[in-house]
Amino acid sequence: HSDRLALPVGTTLDRFIMRKQEDFPYATGELSQLLRDIALAAKIVNREINRSGLIDITGAYGQQNVQGEEQQKLDVIANIRFIRALRNGGEVCTVISEEEEDMIQTGKTQGKYVVAIDPLDGSSNIDVNVSIGTIFSIYRRQSPIGQEGTMEDCLQKGVHQVAAGYVIYGSSTMLVYTTGAGVNGFTYEASLGEFFLSHPNITTPKTGTIYSINEGSANTFSEGVKQYVQHCKDQNFSARYIGSLVADFHRNLLKGGIYIYPGTAKNPNGKLRLMYECNALAFVVEQAGGKASTGLKRIMEVEPHDMHERCPLFIGSTELVEKVEDFIRKTE
Ligand code: AHG
Ligand code: MN
Ligand code: MN
Ligand code: MN
Repeated sequence: HSDRLALPVGTTLDRFIMRKQEDFPYATGELSQLLRDIALAAKIVNREINRSGLIDITGAYGQQNVQGEEQQKLDVIANIRFIRALRNGGEVCTVISEEEEDMIQTGKTQGKYVVAIDPLDGSSNIDVNVSIGTIFSIYRRQSPIGQEGTMEDCLQKGVHQVAAGYVIYGSSTMLVYTTGAGVNGFTYEASLGEFFLSHPNITTPKTGTIYSINEGSANTFSEGVKQYVQHCKDQNFSARYIGSLVADFHRNLLKGGIYIYPGTAKNPNGKLRLMYECNALAFVVEQAGGKASTGLKRIMEVEPHDMHERCPLFIGSTELVEKVEDFIRKTE
């Protein structure tokens, strides 16, 4: 299909999805519909976020999630909105979410897909007007249609993802996703309620000079990570850390760079969750020509055992990820 006209910038997300579906003659449209359902939820959450200072939805919700984190009101709102949109869309049988301790059955047992989602990423940045995001990962269920999705459906390795992506609610709101045939970015025009193709076929630079890591935890980094951070300084890299994974990842994807959340004393396996943060962004970055590693192995090869399990994340430009893997191999 490479001879097909590249879709022009300005194409709507709907038209883009329809055109891409034509490339899969046997596709029956469910995944296309699921992507539309995610885009709808993103529009709704975007509106809530943009007015969060005006209506009483800032601050803590007053409950902790399974992660032991104080849920922010917008964490809960985004969680409800995405699960409702996925349920109403009818294509998803089961959802796992950062904000839900257990699997959520949508009741749509005909749904062919399961979704892992971080409904609101960067919660600590909500009330201070810094970019935040949503991260999603989509699998084909393995269990027979017509019943509830199973834990095995939800705990598949990252290599089995059929689609993954993120929304970044920043100076503009963007949806960036892949279905395994490259990465495309869409920018939201709120006055029209539409996402328009703005970043066709995103590829990430092979190397870069930006490193993103919370150096507040540097004293407890492993020797290899400590040496790599020193290497970045010796190379006069630029330190950029927003504290919202989606925002740090998106900047490095476009400009080149590396984002690291390593094991620390507080989080020996890192803080980021494999199923709805690491795997999703790993699929996107690999499709853009980058790399995603636990420091020792490819993120998408990690065998999941728990819905909320954490893993160290080294993600971004291939040459930078391979360099830190070298430091780790030589010191672990
Ligand atoms: P979430 O808000 O979904 O729990 O994720 C927060 C994550 C990620 O967005 C960010 O990069 C990281 O936490 C920041 O952690 P530190 O504050 O420990 O650096
Ligand atoms: Mn997150
Ligand atoms: Mn979150
Ligand atoms: Mn959280």
